[in-house]
Amino acid sequence: MKILLTGGAGYIGSHTAIALAAEGFEPVVLDNFSNSHPTVMERLTEVSGRSMLLEQGDVLDTDWLRQVLQRHHPVAVVHFAGDKAVGESVAQPLKYFHNNVGGAVSLMRAMVQATATGGGDRTPALVFSSSATVYGDPATVPITEDFPRSHTNPYGHTKLVIEDMLTAQCKADPTWRVGVLRYFNPVGAHPSGRMGEDPDGMPNNLMPFVTQVAVGRRPFLNVYGNDYPTPDGTGVRDYIHVMDLASGHVAAVRTLLQGSQGFTVNLGTGRGHSVLEVVRAFEQVSGRAVPYRIAPRRAGDVAQCWADPTLARTLLGWKARFGLEDMCADAWRWQNLNPQGYRSA
Ligand code: NAD
Ligand code: UD1
Repeated sequence: MKILLTGGAGYIGSHTAIALAAEGFEPVVLDNFSNSHPTVMERLTEVSGRSMLLEQGDVLDTDWLRQVLQRHHPVAVVHFAGDKAVGESVAQPLKYFHNNVGGAVSLMRAMVQATATGGGDRTPALVFSSSATVYGDPATVPITEDFPRSHTNPYGHTKLVIEDMLTAQCKADPTWRVGVLRYFNPVGAHPSGRMGEDPDGMPNNLMPFVTQVAVGRRPFLNVYGNDYPTPDGTGVRDYIHVMDLASGHVAAVRTLLQGSQGFTVNLGTGRGHSVLEVVRAFEQVSGRAVPYRIAPRRAGDVAQCWADPTLARTLLGWKARFGLEDMCADAWRWQNLNPQGYRSA
């Protein structure tokens, strides 16, 4: 059973490909390598012990995408492809609406066309990478899926628009089965140390910044604000191990293939950790110091954000297994063995 992974060479897509292959699915990675390195394909083959299928190209190319769907007949598509840097989305909103919203429109059109011209095959099930960013600044925590949605930047706005587009399409054509996964804060790496997060340039997110400080690529971490209404004053987030996230995708695909009409669920652990807790846990497992300085709050940041993951447990039979120490240990192994990420190879 083939599963097409758009953006499958990226951070979350590559770990999901490993988890799907381990469960007997046949992942097909589709990527244009705009934010990933082709070396990941060799690592995928090495870690999974099988050669990984690759379709190199752009999700904005609807005709090509239709041909890819007709060539492989996937039973499900997982749509990871898109741009994800919040700051860049504020500076270049059109890039984000074009690639993220345009990419989703292109994929959905290609799915309609491939089904119509493919001899009456069923439309593949679709799993979409959404984000906790759709909750904006939540009034309370933990966050359940029925919380009001809002956006504070163009990146988050694209996730809202795509969620709404998927809902409209499911209403228009009830044969569509769509799983929307709202990720909290994915961190960590494959335990082999052969695959992990490899941001291009200055990392925007906390964990890759911490690992780059620990490995000596950057002198210190800026802690964005210590005057939030949280126990130690620093921001609190629901960090989730990328392998837990990957198994959440396997559970989502299985649930759709077993007849579910669709769902929208949080993927988080249900626990929040502050920035300083992450720094301390990381120092402990790595044995390295992570010097930091308190800096002003970062624009657009919320004080605290963590999930109520009950619905994912009820609907998908999934729950996160790894804790903060595992996340730090695996992130460190990857960074330490690959100081320049995939470019170290
Ligand atoms: P990533 O940048 O590592 O992976 C995205 C992949 O998509 C990259 O390999 C990139 O080359 C590819 N891509 C981008 N545009 C493309 C296009 N037009 N055609 C083909 N390929 C294209 O990002 P990630 O962290 O793995 O995130 C995957 C998805 O999850 C994204 O949609 C992101 O918005 C969402 N998400 C990520 C996080 C996070 O913290 N990483 C949190 C919530 C949601
Ligand atoms: C950010 C995005 C969010 C996106 C998510 C993807 C913003 C405002 N939000 O979430 O839309 O879905 O990434 O994972 O960019 N921190 C530091 N120093 C750093 C980096 C981060 O102190 O160098 C702090 C932040 O202030 C925050 C916490 O660490 O309290 C986590 O930050 P980050 O990893 O960037 O994730 P989010 O801000 O939750």
